[in-house]
Amino acid sequence: MKSKKNLVLVGMMGSGKSTIGQLLSKKLGFKFYDVDKIIENEQKIRIKEIFDQKGESFFRILEEKITLNTLNYESSVISLGGGGFLNENIRKKTLIKSMTFWLDWDSLTLIKRIKKNKKRPISQGLNEKQLQSLIIERSKTYSKANHKISCEKLSELNIVKKILNLYENSKNNNKN
Ligand code: S3P
Repeated sequence: MKSKKNLVLVGMMGSGKSTIGQLLSKKLGFKFYDVDKIIENEQKIRIKEIFDQKGESFFRILEEKITLNTLNYESSVISLGGGGFLNENIRKKTLIKSMTFWLDWDSLTLIKRIKKNKKRPISQGLNEKQLQSLIIERSKTYSKANHKISCEKLSELNIVKKILNLYENSKNNNKN
């Protein structure tokens, strides 16, 4: 019988949640939901503008509401915003309803990617040392995901394969 459990991708900005999520969903024939995109479509403005115009707490409330709602879908791949899994309500529901994968990378790789993209409000104004501390701090929570995928030496395709194997194996073993 086909499992309907969702696959949820968590991790820092720049960890490839959207790219990997899209590839995964194609392989599985599942729908793909990118929480950031849903927020932008609903609000009709970019995340950066939400932060600029309404502030982070407004964004976090919206993020919680939309993520909790998205987690109700079945047979889906869902990519959370980088801060989503840090929210206890989101984390609890995600862990109950889905199989979760943390896309983990070396801090240096993440910092390089984050620095390249100026559109991310959370990283604006942070120097490399501060970004490194943020990565270390957040990793403690990301590590609560069901599976940690060490992405550093893997191609996109191999990251996808690894996640698919874990998903299929757990389905065959009839556990999470
Ligand atoms: C955030 C990450 C962003 C977006 C928002 C806040 C964060 O998502 O949700 O800017 O707190 O790390 P990505 O991880 O998709 O960049």
